[in-house]
Amino acid sequence: MPAASISVRSDHAVAPLDRRLFGSFVEHLGRCVYDGLYEPGHPTADAMGFRSDVVDLVRELGVSTVRYPGGNFVSGYRWEDGVGPREQRPVRRDLAWHVRETNQVGLDEFAAWTRLTGVELMMAVNLGTRGIAEALDLLEYTNGEAGTALADARVANGASEPHGVRMWCLGNEMDGPWQTGHLSADEYGRLAARTGAAMKRADNGLELVVCGSSGSQMPTFGEWERTVLGHAYDVVDYISCHAYYHDQGDRASFLASSVDMDRFITTVVTAADHVQQLRHSSRQIAISFDEWNVWDLTTWQAEEARIEAEEKAGRPVGWPIAPRQLEDVYTVTDAVVVGSLLITLLRRHDRVRAASLAQLVNVIAPIMTEPGGPAWRQTTFYPFALTSRLAGGTVLAPVIDCPTIATATFGEVPVVDAAATVDDESGRAALFLVNRHQSEPTTVRFDVSQLGATRVVSAQMLHDGDPLAANTLAQPDRVPPQPLTCVLGTDGVLQIELPPISWAAVELSR
Ligand code: AHR
Repeated sequence: MPAASISVRSDHAVAPLDRRLFGSFVEHLGRCVYDGLYEPGHPTADAMGFRSDVVDLVRELGVSTVRYPGGNFVSGYRWEDGVGPREQRPVRRDLAWHVRETNQVGLDEFAAWTRLTGVELMMAVNLGTRGIAEALDLLEYTNGEAGTALADARVANGASEPHGVRMWCLGNEMDGPWQTGHLSADEYGRLAARTGAAMKRADNGLELVVCGSSGSQMPTFGEWERTVLGHAYDVVDYISCHAYYHDQGDRASFLASSVDMDRFITTVVTAADHVQQLRHSSRQIAISFDEWNVWDLTTWQAEEARIEAEEKAGRPVGWPIAPRQLEDVYTVTDAVVVGSLLITLLRRHDRVRAASLAQLVNVIAPIMTEPGGPAWRQTTFYPFALTSRLAGGTVLAPVIDCPTIATATFGEVPVVDAAATVDDESGRAALFLVNRHQSEPTTVRFDVSQLGATRVVSAQMLHDGDPLAANTLAQPDRVPPQPLTCVLGTDGVLQIELPPISWAAVELSR
């Protein structure tokens, strides 16, 4: 049985925790908005048509910010279509997902939903089919004080107060050939710099996110960041990273996905700091990891191939409204990977200052719904909710001494990973651990004596004898968190036994 020795001290501090690390993402895609968070006929729907059962789960999940309205969708979106009297809103084709958008939910409704759920709204502007003028119009409509045309239009539409959106993405995944209006790094860098400068001229307090790479596998990865920041460094505050992982028939590598995320972050930090030095700038750019999750992309690739084949055969598949798209069912192994990606985001929190789990409801999501029926928690709900609830104060990166396991993609990787937080005010600390071993439990000696902890408040884990066990409509509680065996000795050392393929969270107090 592998054994790991971990120690954590307050001088292992990474950064004070910014709750923006626990953001998520709502795109007009599939049933995320329609039949997800919005379903007027549902028994739990409120007067605006929002499902209260979903609102409750979003609160329980502990989401801080929500990025909106896309994603690939934003690159063809006209925000004006989604405001004003609902019966006058146009139905349009969405080229990103090959569907029709009814525009029954738009900016004002979504901003109202963020107030219901208590989350911060983070917006994206369309730099695919649109540009500076439309971004400025959207900014004025969203944040303007009454007294100018577009701010007054918002007031007339029922939103008397500005929505007060601070964080704005300058487009989405503009490096991807699949993006409507895809640009080269040079073209996008110039457009982002000019749009960002204009937006900051309107409001210098905005926080702007420039598009980084859509994944570390992109052929332009690294060079894209260097070129884009070469143009936009002085006007942006964050550069984005997006990463999705899935089991490609090699579970050992899948369980080590966070190694890729960690290397990805290192490359982006290196590129950003290189540009900082070339520009003799005193400002450091942070990372907004504003799309991350487990996602079996092959299901979407198959769907795209099917649409193409049908159209070639002269049988157009049509443009459905809010169909079931990207409704991945997550296994307990997927949840363990999500937990370990969160551990990496915590350990790299010195530079990753914001992140968004993509997405929130129905579409590659921790929360699922049935029209007219229940809402339930996928396995991936739990590591996110527990980390968000327990983490607080300062993030610490424990020192880990443990055996390695062999992976085809990443070589030898440590069998265990861990992060911690300590909150001097409340006297609470939290530990997050993952055991990547597929068949062996790992015994962990976790020295927390320097944190002054005297008591284990709670200890939970995600693990199942069946690594493919999942929560579904038929069995929504098949995989709940379970009690974790863990004993705190008088020497301040915790003895923990982590089963194979498991993620755990331990809450301590003084
Ligand atoms: O989250 C699903 C899609 O993944 C987003 O629309 C896009 O930005 C990314 O490719």
